[in-house]
Amino acid sequence: MPKAILPHGFLENRGGYLYIDGVSAIEIAEKFDTPLYILIERRIRENFRRLKSALLKHYNKVRVYYSAKANTSLTVLKILEDEEAYLDAVSPGEVFLALKAGFQPDRILFTGTSVRDDELEFLIKHGVTINIDSLSQLRRLLKMHVPEILSFRVNPEIGAGHHEHVITAGRNSKFGIWEKDIVDVYRIALEAGVKRFGIHMHIGSGILSVEPFLLAAEKLLQIAHQIRKELNITFEFMDFGGGLGVPYRPDEKPIDLEDFASRMLSLFKSRAEEYGLGGPFFCVEPGRFIVCDAGILLTRVNTVKITPYKKFIGVDAGFNTLIRPAMYGSYHPIIVANKLNEPESEMYDVAGPLCESGDLLARDRLLPEIQEGDLLAILNAGAYGFSMSSQYNSRPRCAEVLVKDGKYSLIRERETLDDLIRGQRIADWLQ
Ligand code: LLP
Repeated sequence: MPKAILPHGFLENRGGYLYIDGVSAIEIAEKFDTPLYILIERRIRENFRRLKSALLKHYNKVRVYYSAKANTSLTVLKILEDEEAYLDAVSPGEVFLALKAGFQPDRILFTGTSVRDDELEFLIKHGVTINIDSLSQLRRLLKMHVPEILSFRVNPEIGAGHHEHVITAGRNSKFGIWEKDIVDVYRIALEAGVKRFGIHMHIGSGILSVEPFLLAAEKLLQIAHQIRKELNITFEFMDFGGGLGVPYRPDEKPIDLEDFASRMLSLFKSRAEEYGLGGPFFCVEPGRFIVCDAGILLTRVNTVKITPYKKFIGVDAGFNTLIRPAMYGSYHPIIVANKLNEPESEMYDVAGPLCESGDLLARDRLLPEIQEGDLLAILNAGAYGFSMSSQYNSRPRCAEVLVKDGKYSLIRERETLDDLIRGQRIADWLQ
């Protein structure tokens, strides 16, 4: 029978117990209660540096934008600001948080969709770079203000991703500007007085092979060429989006970073030169790749229920805490933090506390024999975990802790019952 596999060096098996960068999972679960998200500072930094240095080996004008939506905790943003990351934001809220964490506005690129006028005003006021998603958004922006620099999101008509919901380019996609309109939007911006330009795409999320990136990049470069020829515009930056996948299932392999970097950059350098694009920065904007495997969700078993058909483990985290299994059918590795040396001998469904049948963190999962009180560690929970959590079923959101080399620090307090009524009022005629 296989035993728990630990995916990287910051997770350790000490005598059957899980340690997360030198901190006992059992100890922090007792101290801060469960469910509890743990983030590993050194793994966040390592992931960021692995990607940036792989790219810098091939080209010296590289920018890595951290896509904040994956995890918007202030501490995570602060760590990445300290790493000199740039930042991809999609809402005024993400811009606000990034500014609070110390990002300079000119390091923030806003890529929104269905953007309101007051949101545009907010972006103008704070001086962040705007990446335009539609002709409508462009017209409304230029009526208010002509920025010095502007970027446009292109739909390169090639999409990819781990689930239909996360494919963000192609025929049915709501995102980006189509090739047939692209020269027009740059022309409108140029004639309005915009001086510096970027160009952008993002094809989807959770992509483990290099091919879709290459195909879409080729298309984006051709589109940039067309703009260059027709309007004589060069580009300050070209952003090839996020989407770099991380393995979740035991049979998935990590994307080969060196292969990604060398093939993307050799294509980019040759075309950018051939098309006279003006030596732009090569940019990517990953979220998942930076934080996914730096996050662990700890959840306690409160119930073991054997039915004629199934063995259920009832835990205290449901899709209010981690929605990915319910929303995308995603697989997250699960290990038992206090039973790492025990053979995985039983098949369980891991169920949350919500009143919905879809509230399962895993189905038919082989685990050691479980008792009430055991502590499960749901791995790869650092991206789109806390940031997609909710108060559904009126459960306060959980706490987050940062660990670093044997130290730990509470970075987000657990919500209380009072948080459930914060901002609510009973209508005056009912009082
Ligand atoms: N840039 C843009 C414009 C995006 O829309 C996204 C993600 C990213 C960058 C970062 O993608 P990443 O590198 O993290 O794959 N909730 C889903 C993922 C949704 C991603 C949406 N856009 C999940 O849990 O799998």
